[in-house]
Amino acid sequence: MAVRVLNVESESVMNRGRLFLVSCFLAAGWPAVAENDTLARNLVATCANCHGTNGHAVKSSGMEALAGAEAVKMLQKLQEFKSGVRPATVMQQIVKGYTDEEIELIVGYLARQKQAGRRSGARMTEDGDD
Ligand code: HEC
Repeated sequence: MAVRVLNVESESVMNRGRLFLVSCFLAAGWPAVAENDTLARNLVATCANCHGTNGHAVKSSGMEALAGAEAVKMLQKLQEFKSGVRPATVMQQIVKGYTDEEIELIVGYLARQKQAGRRSGARMTEDGDD
């Protein structure tokens, strides 16, 4: 009797285990797009020091905003930095640290950002009392 109870218990533990595994597979397969978006966002975060969060350049920085910039042009500029044909102070070095696939993810993410002034919803005001 005791053995039977044990069997029933271990069976249900196994079933739960199987269910857990199935959920893991589902969870791993389903958000491939979201995963790429997270990767893209993380890669773009490495540009924030100079280009601002998500490519929203700080006004006084003198940097051109990358948010909402045309993807084709950005990609071309980055490829030219990488190959060395476009003169640069730092971008030639920086862009060499990324694979072509990573650069495409970065450019896609930046191009999808809304340009400053066209952002909807809450925005920080100059003095930050938003
Ligand atoms: C250390 C500061 C710094 C970081 C970090 C940085 N950039 Fe730049 N970026 C610059 C500077 C400065 C320029 C102007 C070209 C130059 O002198 O290198 C520039 C130029 C560019 C341009 C061309 C802008 C234009 O319209 O002419 C693009 C596109 C760009 N950066 C993308 C990126 C991306 C994408 C990242 C992150 C992967 C990044 N940058 C990280 C400093 C930086």
